[in-house]
Amino acid sequence: MSVSLNVNGKPVSVDVPDDTRLLWTLRDVLGMTGTKFGCGIAMCGACTFHLDGVPTRACITPISAAVGRKITTIEAIGADPVGQRVQAAWLDLGVAQCGYCQSGQIMAATALLKQKPSPTDADIDSAMSGNICRCGTYTRIRAAIKQAAQAKGAA
Ligand code: FES
Ligand code: FES
Repeated sequence: MSVSLNVNGKPVSVDVPDDTRLLWTLRDVLGMTGTKFGCGIAMCGACTFHLDGVPTRACITPISAAVGRKITTIEAIGADPVGQRVQAAWLDLGVAQCGYCQSGQIMAATALLKQKPSPTDADIDSAMSGNICRCGTYTRIRAAIKQAAQAKGAA
């Protein structure tokens, strides 16, 4: 069946069962591979996207739950001023190691800073605790979030 979605500000129509998970709709149907598959059970955060601005796991989200709502993925987060600062800090501090988890990390970090522009360490720990990094880049992730927060103050 045809399902209408709003992905990164653009209307798209996909022909899949409405219980199809958004992750596979993005990756396999729309060819947007920035959102990653890690665990498939909402435990790792690799598939994090924003649903109406809220960080959400695409691997467990049926597309029926996204109809009529705004889907934002890593492909478009750089168009958001906060996302742009986060990505700049990530690059500046060389956060990524293998990179696999980093789309989800950036989406979670951007959502945090949009909600809390000056997060405490506890805020960062709470917001990022569901995003696993096998390479252990947690220290650089925290530093980059703080740098992105300070960049707002400097702007
Ligand atoms: S792939 Fe969705 S949380 Fe791990
Ligand atoms: S950078 Fe390799 S899993 Fe996070």
